[in-house]
Amino acid sequence: MDVVISKVVGMEGIDSRPNPTTMAMVELSDGTKEYAISPSGASTGEGEQHEKRDGDRARYRGKGVLGAVEAINTRIAKVLIGMSPFDLMAVDGAMCAIDTSGNLGEIGANSTTAVSYAVARAAARSRGQELFEFLGGPTACRLPVPFCKFFDGGMHAGNSLRIQEFMWAPVGAPTFAEAVRWLVECFHTLADLLKKEGHPTTVGDEGGFAPNLESNREALDFGAQAVEKAGYTLGEQICFVLDTAASTFFEGGQYAIEPSGDPLDGAGLVNYLEDLVDKYPIFSIEDGAAEGDLDTWQMMHNHLGNRIQLVGDDVFCTNRRLLAQNLPPNNRFANCLLVKTNQIGTVTRAKRAGEMAHAHGMTTCVSQRSGDTEGAEYADLAVALGSGFIKPGSVARSDRGAKYNRLFWIERLLGKRAVYPGWQAFTSVPTLYAKGVAT
Ligand code: PGA
Ligand code: ZN
Repeated sequence: MDVVISKVVGMEGIDSRPNPTTMAMVELSDGTKEYAISPSGASTGEGEQHEKRDGDRARYRGKGVLGAVEAINTRIAKVLIGMSPFDLMAVDGAMCAIDTSGNLGEIGANSTTAVSYAVARAAARSRGQELFEFLGGPTACRLPVPFCKFFDGGMHAGNSLRIQEFMWAPVGAPTFAEAVRWLVECFHTLADLLKKEGHPTTVGDEGGFAPNLESNREALDFGAQAVEKAGYTLGEQICFVLDTAASTFFEGGQYAIEPSGDPLDGAGLVNYLEDLVDKYPIFSIEDGAAEGDLDTWQMMHNHLGNRIQLVGDDVFCTNRRLLAQNLPPNNRFANCLLVKTNQIGTVTRAKRAGEMAHAHGMTTCVSQRSGDTEGAEYADLAVALGSGFIKPGSVARSDRGAKYNRLFWIERLLGKRAVYPGWQAFTSVPTLYAKGVAT
């Protein structure tokens, strides 16, 4: 007898912030049961598929998800029961076809994300496979380089920093496990440095420290000192990565990127970023310009697109239709796609967006949300996609650590087949490519 989906159950749970979130359990006719849970963002892109929230102020300040849970238990369960869990594309397609809003607003991208991952997990388990094998097939063996957050700013912390994410990338490490050891050592060293200077070592939403610093340079200098004091070489073994999340400080055509000082127009912002890239070994900048400001994106690409990775998050929202703006015959303004499953609502859609980016010479980075959970499925997605990068947040807090820990296991499970690409992951950066740093 063919194995089919026999039960789909939704539940309300909480994420790391903590806000309510949707959880799903999927049972198969062979008795396999699996679970998954949806994350939730704060600096969301306008083109994201919609989360369904109740808006009832008497419960969870309006953020309850009983309506989304109800959609899982009724409309989604009805179409999925009896379907094969192994044809995830058909399952995800059937779920999305229920919704006529064009943005999953009726059943909720928070419902579909949890169900999609629960089905994928159940299918993998029923076959005795790991999730990354089920999603990526027998050739999936590339570990991503982790972007580890050391400072939280912007909407992820109540501090002075406007740039949302200051990160380290351990590009010189020989393996994923070694890379994480380096990051943990740097993280503790940074805590020592902050304490010495009288700064708090409390953390923001994604586990990075959240001190009130005077400038972005001060933040980068702390990051640089920590790397060197921990015994690593900045720019060779560990480099910097930023997610400015520029939409969050873009107002009236001006970018307030520094904690104090005058805001900058688009050209000023590009000069400012170029100057930072000249002074510090920054090799990737995400959302360097606001999502609606494609002129600044284009200018940034003209100035920096050869030298560093320019990652599109809010501007693409993991959506193939939005990604098409950046592909021929249109002009290229970003060279890397950020992949967040709940931005687009299903595992299949997220994976296909990643594959489309790869097919056009772009790199991909699979990402957390700032409200995240104990679920680590996107770590498997990163390996399935052969993504060069993953952004799990800092190495502190278990909602972030769960992804690092899952990748430790995946590297171990892959054994000799595991590939940690290091610098080679930057294949979309022409200068590094030309120097043979990336191939
Ligand atoms: P978000 O932030 O989950 O709050 O949107 C993460 C990111 O911008 O990468
Ligand atoms: Zn982002």
